[in-house]
Amino acid sequence: MGKTLNFAKLAAVASAFCATPALANGDSDEAFDPQAYFAAECSQCHGRAARGMASFPSLRGKTPDYLSQRLETYRAGDAVGPNSMLMYPIAEELSDQMIESLSAYISENFG
Ligand code: HEC
Repeated sequence: MGKTLNFAKLAAVASAFCATPALANGDSDEAFDPQAYFAAECSQCHGRAARGMASFPSLRGKTPDYLSQRLETYRAGDAVGPNSMLMYPIAEELSDQMIESLSAYISENFG
C-alpha cells in the first residue's frame, strides 16, 4: 500500500547507486502479494514454477540476494545477459519493497 509507480521510479534512481542489503522481509507491508504478482507479471516468461523456458532463465535455486541484485541491476538499466532489455520495463515497475518481497517469495517457493 502507498507504493505508487512514480515512487517506484524515484526509488529506482535513488537505489541504483546505493545497493543496501534487504530490509527485513515481510513484517511491515503485507499488502503486496508476491504470489499474485509473480503469477500475473512474471510467470508468462519464467513459468508458473519459475523453471524458465527457452531463453527465459529459470529462477529456481537462487538466493534472495542474487535475485534482488539482478532485479536492481535491470531496474538501473544495466545489462546482465543478451536479453536484459526484456527485463528493464518489468524491473522499472518494482519498488525496493516489491523486489525484496518477490525475491524472498521466489527463493522460498522455487528453491
Ligand atoms: C517478457 C518476459 C519476461 C517477464 C514478464 C519477466 N522476465 Fe525476468 N527475465 C526475462 C529474460 C529474457 C531474462 C534474461 C535477461 C538477460 O539476458 O539478462 C530474465 C531474467 C530475470 C532474472 C535474472 C535471472 C538470472 O539468473 O540471472 C530475474 C531474477 C528475473 N528475470 C525476475 C523476474 C521477475 C521477478 C519478473 C516479474 C516481476 C520477471 N522476471 C518477468 C524475461 C522476463
